[in-house]
Amino acid sequence: MSGTIDPKSLGKVAVLFGGASAEREVSLNSGSRVLDALQRQGVDAHAFDPAATPLTAIEHAGFDRAFIALHGGIGENGTLQGFLEMIGLPYTGSGVLASALAMDKWRSKLVWQAAGLPTPGYRLIDAETDAQAVIDSLGLPMFVKPVHEGSSVGVTKVKTLADLMPAWQAASRHDSAVIAETALLGGEFTVAVWQTSNGLQALPPVRIVPATEFYDYEAKYNRDDTQYNVPCGLPEAQVAHMQDLAVEAFEALGCRGWGRVDFLLDSAGAPYVLEANTAPGMTDHSLVPMAARAAGVDYDHLVLTVAAMASLDANPAGI
Ligand SMILES: Nc1ncnc2c1ncn2[C@@H]1O[C@H](COP(=O)(O)OP(=O)(O)OP(=O)(O)O)[C@@H](O)[C@H]1O
Ligand SMILES: [Mg+2]
Repeated sequence: MSGTIDPKSLGKVAVLFGGASAEREVSLNSGSRVLDALQRQGVDAHAFDPAATPLTAIEHAGFDRAFIALHGGIGENGTLQGFLEMIGLPYTGSGVLASALAMDKWRSKLVWQAAGLPTPGYRLIDAETDAQAVIDSLGLPMFVKPVHEGSSVGVTKVKTLADLMPAWQAASRHDSAVIAETALLGGEFTVAVWQTSNGLQALPPVRIVPATEFYDYEAKYNRDDTQYNVPCGLPEAQVAHMQDLAVEAFEALGCRGWGRVDFLLDSAGAPYVLEANTAPGMTDHSLVPMAARAAGVDYDHLVLTVAAMASLDANPAGI
């Protein structure tokens, strides 16, 4: 695979990063690394920050493809993807529908349940919810979170009846839709999925062991005591099972190109799909590059392959 991608065949590449979402800082970091990796391999790659230059300017700038290194907001929720479809500029990662679905934790679950894939039990909650009835159905502890947010913003671990409605209130400050979910406490894992010329493949799972009570905003961005284990320590059969589930969950949402599927294990060690991310981080410390490294795939090759797979909904790569 590595030798088969001619950097010149990618044409002129716009690396989209920065943007105006809450995750701008992470995106600046991801995108500058991606840009460096493409340029040092001889790709004609250029930075494009939609917060600095109106996105419409991309249409007549002679680009052949776009590498999306924006996280959150319009860069990840299908909006940008729709714009690039309209102007016919192939882009990395998932298309319009899958990007929008993956951003919605509730509707992702509906799809996975319909596809027979395991996902933690949940209830949608609102101001009228009978807290005791939710606890009777999900048990304690449980997690309460906004349906559309990211980065653990507005997520609370609820341990008592009295905590439930304050947790709803905290989540509802970020989103009008809020879910309560059964807590699964047997371990947290993430599986990167990428498309190569050999098809869709799952990379080795990474185990995430936060020093905090759960993988909250502090653990993600401000602390350096979260442990990441790869190889993840699970038996081979369980690794293979989780990788299969990751590919199935990815495909059920209609994702393509690359992404990350997050998992929780229950106390018996059975995996459940938590959520899918369609525009994963690409910083030095990000999980997809970490998983790729464990599979013998270096950062440059990962970036070049993702870029080579750029496509449009109407014309997927390889067809
Ligand atoms: N049902 C659950 N059981 C155990 N832990 C959970 C559960 N739901 C969430 N968590 C913990 O809270 C963290 C954040 O929750 P989640 O991944 O659902 O939202 P998010 O991280 O805000 O979304 P994104 O990953 O898109 O940024 C998880 O990484 C995990 O540590
Ligand atoms: Mg998450």
